[in-house]
Amino acid sequence: MSLLRSQDKHPESSTNPAVLDNQFVDPEAFQFWSERKLSGYQETMRDVVVDIKDPTHLTLPERSALLERLRKLNVVVYRCQGRDFTKKDLKVLGLQLGLSRLDRNLCADGESISSVRVAESTAKTRYIPYTNQPLGWHTDGYYNNVDRTIRSFTLHCVHQAHSGGINTFLDPEIVYLLVKHRNAEYAASLTQPNVFSVPANIEDGRELRPLYTGPVFSIDPANGCLHMRYSARSRNISWNSATEIQEAVEYLKTVIEQAVEYAITHKLESGQGVICNNSLHKRTGFVNGSSVDTQRLLYRARYYDRVLGT
Ligand SMILES: [Fe+2]
Repeated sequence: MSLLRSQDKHPESSTNPAVLDNQFVDPEAFQFWSERKLSGYQETMRDVVVDIKDPTHLTLPERSALLERLRKLNVVVYRCQGRDFTKKDLKVLGLQLGLSRLDRNLCADGESISSVRVAESTAKTRYIPYTNQPLGWHTDGYYNNVDRTIRSFTLHCVHQAHSGGINTFLDPEIVYLLVKHRNAEYAASLTQPNVFSVPANIEDGRELRPLYTGPVFSIDPANGCLHMRYSARSRNISWNSATEIQEAVEYLKTVIEQAVEYAITHKLESGQGVICNNSLHKRTGFVNGSSVDTQRLLYRARYYDRVLGT
């Protein structure tokens, strides 16, 4: 039986067509959801940037504009210029959108917000985000245990790189929809509970993170919404060797690469940021300049919460 059946609906789920009962197993309901999802999608994509004045005091129109885009695209870009933007500002911005449970990852500081930049030779350099190398398609925390599921993240650009460092985002609901429209069996295979494993992270004999095994697509019991876990880095993931899953994963990779008409590409400039329900994303490599303001620096916060009301 498909896992994509919401057993435990969120109070707000009735406003989200993605969480209607049986939508993934009833063809008519799936068709209805797909049409609604795609309606106006690309128009909204072209208008993904929202200006905000004070991240600590969103106005009602600013908040509505952010949520409107998040409901449709699962991602929004904000632009907040003319002020210094601190980690605390990012935290308070998140709180106004229902984001309060921060994930404390290995590279985050005491406030659980990471400074993502090219690291000097430290333990961080084994993680690609802390280099200037390109970063392939992934969702954040795809290796986390379910009690640390990353449902959203925010990124704020303090300084952009001299060149490169361009992000692209792709909505997991769109990816699922495209896979299922073209091959329902592949979509079902990707919901199996053992589609991939990520080995434990062990450093100096100490287990920093346990082994994870799970599906690519699932319905998140915490909110009834579609959740996706994925990494294009085959080095990081061990895919199930069953033929039907191997075929489904190959197909998924193709769909992701070909879904360019639904992908949002944006180079974050200083003062801009992203709020996102942990969509798929990737980053091009970049070259830093010699001055501080041309050395790429982003603040990143990861949450166990999905943006409230989306
Ligand atoms: Fe990421």
